[in-house]
Amino acid sequence: MTARQQPKNLWISRWGFILAATGSAVGLGNIWKFPYITGEYGGGAFVLVYLACILAVGVPVMMAEIAFGRRGRGSPIDAITNLARESGANPLWRIFGWIAMLAGFMILSFYVVVAGWSFSYLWKMASGSLSGQSVAELGGIFEAGNANPWALGGWATLVTAVTMLIVGRGVQEGVEKSVRWMMPGMVIMLLIMIGYALTSGNFSAGFHFLFDFDVTKLTSEGLLAALGHAFFTLSLASGAILTYGSYLPAGTSIARTTFTVAIADTLVALMAGLAIFPIIFANGMDPSSGPGLIFMSLPVAFNQMPFGQLFGVLFFAMLSIAALTSAISMIEATVAWLTENRSMSRVKASWIAGVALWLVAMFAMLSFNLGAEWKFAGKHFFDWLDYLTSRWMMPIGGIAMVVLAGFVFKSSMMRDELGLSAGGYRLWLFMIRYVSPVCIVAIFVDALGLAHL
Ligand code: PHE
Ligand code: NA
Repeated sequence: MTARQQPKNLWISRWGFILAATGSAVGLGNIWKFPYITGEYGGGAFVLVYLACILAVGVPVMMAEIAFGRRGRGSPIDAITNLARESGANPLWRIFGWIAMLAGFMILSFYVVVAGWSFSYLWKMASGSLSGQSVAELGGIFEAGNANPWALGGWATLVTAVTMLIVGRGVQEGVEKSVRWMMPGMVIMLLIMIGYALTSGNFSAGFHFLFDFDVTKLTSEGLLAALGHAFFTLSLASGAILTYGSYLPAGTSIARTTFTVAIADTLVALMAGLAIFPIIFANGMDPSSGPGLIFMSLPVAFNQMPFGQLFGVLFFAMLSIAALTSAISMIEATVAWLTENRSMSRVKASWIAGVALWLVAMFAMLSFNLGAEWKFAGKHFFDWLDYLTSRWMMPIGGIAMVVLAGFVFKSSMMRDELGLSAGGYRLWLFMIRYVSPVCIVAIFVDALGLAHL
């Protein structure tokens, strides 16, 4: 592609991309996963490594992905094909476009199950069915919901349907118009939650847990989790940011938008930690209770606190909205690819992608009930989806993005697209050529245990 193609879809407003990309980034990763993995890997030391990964790997890679999308004007597979052609490189590099698109699809197929938990807790909080329950009873409610495939599947189906409904309406009418009110709404709710944690929780215990670091608590496992989470939380190596970037008008600063999104995402993760841990500690609960942290421990805490039901509703409304704005971004690459290559309408592409997604999600959902015994190498299908994407596909896809941006694609092309000052470009190139790959490879090798052979 020599002449710059004019895409059919562009964000309507300057804020369209920022809101949509921030909506993609800010999600269950920030509010559900970040607090519980921080709890599992011991708090502050993990947070520090995670922040380093965001800066050293996440930011440069996000800039590269947005540039790929905007220059290649397409979903990951098509964009990489176009850029390889423009650079005279092997078009087979597009295989990493496939991996990215598949990662987005696979993540979404378990993400809708977790988002379903959030929707169901919003409902349970609002209807008062959690009030006055003991700790044991609340644990039982979470488990009973999972044990019932109709309940768990029903909520995941609802999330899938809402997601596809928004996506089917198109980039401007669906995605952009929905994030325009969902994102500000979510931020307001989060600020209220922080205020609540400040006044009613054990703020200082939460603060120390998040920010006091003890290096001895760091394990290889924790390092890889921090790296994988940096990709996950910024929606990288999964087609989401790249595809949203393909709708970005020429002339918007990629560096500035990247920093805006990365900072917003990091702030929300830290703020979510500051909203959750003080409440957990104030009620004498364990921060390292795993994925159930916000579904079992938090409702217990709300039950014991003033206006707990009200703030519980607010919390799960916030979480559900955050999940939804991420979900719509994960399927965008697939839907865009179907419309680009199969000349399908947006609605038809959304139906096809949605039904396929729903089938995989239902299978993932069964890991909690009927398929509790269906394990492969000790892991359920649900766990495999999470493990494969965040421990393998994202780091590998991330290395591919780094290699493409730093070595394979024409540097004049990347430079032109990024539109940085001479110094800014040199810094980005240094990060993408040396710092990011070294971090990714070192952590990866360490976690595989190769360094200890
Ligand atoms: N970034 C989202 C979150 O933190 C998850 C996500 C991953 C979204 C990959 C899009 C693509 O919840
Ligand atoms: Na995130």
